Amino acid sequence: MDKTELATAVNRRRTFAIISHPDAGKTTITEQLLLFGGVIRKAGTVKGKKSGQFAKSDWMEIEKQRGISVTSSVMQFDYQGKRINILDTPGHEDFSEDTYRTLMAVDSAVMVIDAAKGIEPQTKKLFKVCRMRGIPIFTFMNKLDRDSREPMDLIAELEDLLDIEAYPMNWPIGMGKGLEGLYDIHNQRVELYHEDEQGQRYLPVDADGQIIGDHRLKQESIYQQALENVQLLLEAGNKFDADKIAKGEQTPVFFGSALTNFGVKTFLESYLDYAPAPAAHKTQADQVITPTAQEFSGFVFKIQANMNPNHRDRIAFIRICSGEFDRGMDVTLQRTQRKLRLANSTEFMADSREVVETAVAGDIVGLYDTGNFQIGDTIYTGKQNIQFENLPQFTPELFVKVTAKNVMKQKSFHKGMEQLVQEGAVQLYRTYVTNDYVLGAVGQLQFEVFQFRMKNEYNSDVVMEPMGEKIARWIDPEQLDEKMSSSRNLLVRDRNGAPLFLFENQFAERWFKQKYPEIKLTEKLSTD
Ligand code: G4P
Repeated sequence: MDKTELATAVNRRRTFAIISHPDAGKTTITEQLLLFGGVIRKAGTVKGKKSGQFAKSDWMEIEKQRGISVTSSVMQFDYQGKRINILDTPGHEDFSEDTYRTLMAVDSAVMVIDAAKGIEPQTKKLFKVCRMRGIPIFTFMNKLDRDSREPMDLIAELEDLLDIEAYPMNWPIGMGKGLEGLYDIHNQRVELYHEDEQGQRYLPVDADGQIIGDHRLKQESIYQQALENVQLLLEAGNKFDADKIAKGEQTPVFFGSALTNFGVKTFLESYLDYAPAPAAHKTQADQVITPTAQEFSGFVFKIQANMNPNHRDRIAFIRICSGEFDRGMDVTLQRTQRKLRLANSTEFMADSREVVETAVAGDIVGLYDTGNFQIGDTIYTGKQNIQFENLPQFTPELFVKVTAKNVMKQKSFHKGMEQLVQEGAVQLYRTYVTNDYVLGAVGQLQFEVFQFRMKNEYNSDVVMEPMGEKIARWIDPEQLDEKMSSSRNLLVRDRNGAPLFLFENQFAERWFKQKYPEIKLTEKLSTD
């Protein structure tokens, strides 16, 4: 690709992840988006829970069926001239640090909320990471076809709990069984839930928001009520601000129903109007790498171990930050300064799929990996010698004590532990007095993968003793007195030797703060 072709290709990329609490409708909305993109032909392909067909792993199945994109974790489609990459953020029992790290590889996020439930815990956690990155966040209030909470309530809660300005792009006209449509503030029209007798779905409105021409809805009190709310919002609420949206300080809010495919198209099209093209990335040396730069560069944000013992290979997911990815290219792995020929040492995942043949900045590629890569690694072509900024450390919430089952096999136990911790599979802590190993994770899956890989890759059986959920808070070593530790706040060191307490619960943390008001406790969600 020459310079202009590359710039055109890069600038049409839109890469995002959907953040939501389980069951809010992430799969359903993804499926509708894929329908618009022509990737699948009928709804129910991604997920047919009821028929039980694809209950186990939605993304794997859709991948098998249609061979979409690079892997099941990234879905790609074209719409209105844009190439869209949706990155899956595993939830449920698959929640792990990788879920958070995936958010490091996107340029924007879509937050799907169940309008009957409002902001739920997992949404809040994922939102926090997006907020830290300052990326644009778009909100979709889902399930309007069911009785939901009052829209005003939902907006107020969103602003309060997430500390972000909300700007409603449209407003429900009724809900549940009484759902009539949406007042589309952004596009100055009414979008009907069901097409009217004339086959119309969109009705034009005048400057006062009144429907132009004759229409049944005009006289309905439900419409006038919605209009009143909209007028109130426009007068007293936040003003639409594209700059704030770009910085993640304001979230455009869309209402709709993914299941009945209502409001999803409007959402997608407005999203494309405001979602950013691939962003520049900063290196540790404070250099800024622009996505349209000719030399290729990218970083590893996730490594997926194969749980099938016959296939020990892993897949390293790379976010391309600049240039173009080419199958046979030679790259340098910055950490080791070793050259890798991607065609030989690794294999491109999606062999015959044209979508990934031309992967450029903004896209994600999956590489078969035999152990070369670690999370956070940078690869590049040419003589750049760059290392992108560190990926953040996320505060673990679940802990286990871990020991080798066979005390005679300490060597392989230590080796495996060291490597898996370095790779970012789990986080390691040591208790102060007894020097026991404690592992921390954000999801149970991480422990399971750890145990599996210890056995299969390092021939080490491990015993894990669950400690449950804890609140990890770091403490300034200067202020530390080991006597502060108790059974309710276990003192441990992280892998850099920094001390922290694992509090049994919020009550224990509060009690500690009251007893030692001068002690500063910090949560880690940072790149140090
Ligand atoms: P997730 O990926 O975020 O976990 O959610 P998913 O799309 O699987 O949706 C969870 C459930 O909510 C699904 O029901 C789905 O059909 C339903 N759902 C999603 N969007 C809407 C919507 O706009 N309106 C309504 N009424 N339902 C919606 P399910 O698989 O049948 O589970 P269940 O409801 O039988 O438990």
